[in-house]
Amino acid sequence: MVATQSRSDKRQGFHAASLTTRRRVYRDTTTERSERLYGGWGGAVIRTGGTVRRSTGDWTPAVHALLTHLESAGFDGSPRVFGVDAEGREVLSFIEGQTVATAASWPEWARSESNLVRVGSMLRRFHDAVETFRPDPELTWRSGRSGLEPGEIIGHNDVSLANLVADSDGRIHSLIDWDNAGPTTRRKDLAIAAWHVVALHAPAHAEARGWTRQPDVARRLRIFLDAYGLTDRTGFVDDILDRLGHALTKLSANGGCAEFVKLLQADIAFIESNREALERAIA
Ligand SMILES: Nc1ncnc2c1ncn2[C@@H]1O[C@H](COP(=O)(O)OP(=O)(O)O)[C@@H](O)[C@H]1O
Ligand SMILES: [Mg+2]
Repeated sequence: MVATQSRSDKRQGFHAASLTTRRRVYRDTTTERSERLYGGWGGAVIRTGGTVRRSTGDWTPAVHALLTHLESAGFDGSPRVFGVDAEGREVLSFIEGQTVATAASWPEWARSESNLVRVGSMLRRFHDAVETFRPDPELTWRSGRSGLEPGEIIGHNDVSLANLVADSDGRIHSLIDWDNAGPTTRRKDLAIAAWHVVALHAPAHAEARGWTRQPDVARRLRIFLDAYGLTDRTGFVDDILDRLGHALTKLSANGGCAEFVKLLQADIAFIESNREALERAIA
């Protein structure tokens, strides 16, 4: 993920006033056993039957409005919102499948070209579905922003392998962890996704993601943008560098993890040194 926020920031649990006025209370009738899911760095993620319980923040009403819009717009790659339970946790649908979260080393499906295509086209379907979403200006996103500037959409802002779910055959079909959603542009959202799913990583980072040989990033970037259907690609490599630079600045300002700072710096250097090949491949 682009860990620009400290994991515990503003996550204050149940905001009674805002959530009860905006969200339905979830009537818990399940008797099923609960299980803690791997991850949940900002607060435990618990599975109970067909639901997932996650802690809430000031941004939760905005995220629920977004997920509700996506559901009514027919986008099927995001969890459904059921409400807020008696403990003040959000209740979302549990999406069946596999994630990279629990894998000791990242599975082959996290690197496949067919999943690059799936993520590119899913992101396009999400952006098209969110185009008509005009959030109530009173809703505040995790970034602290409200409303939309001209040309902006509400993006996911954290499309990484860790937030994608694949079926039992390794076919990616859904996107989870919408807490960082907020105003952005299609290109910025796509740029962050490209960094992760194309694997625009320095060799040591790629190796940690299970690459035994350096991926052909120029070819992969073209496949990803073709699947999204991005027509104007001028300056797209700069857009990626801009997003990574932005993440680095925020991370440094927040006294972020030194290891992650080094990783970002190495990836930026890697992309800069491959700029020509990347630009040629997507021209
Ligand atoms: N709606 C969901 N459906 C299925 N699994 C989920 C869902 N939400 C979270 N998970 C699981 O819980 C893990 C952690 O959740 P996530 O929301 O990504 O939190 P974090 O990024 O803090 O780890 C995910 O990797 C995934 O395996
Ligand atoms: Mg996550």
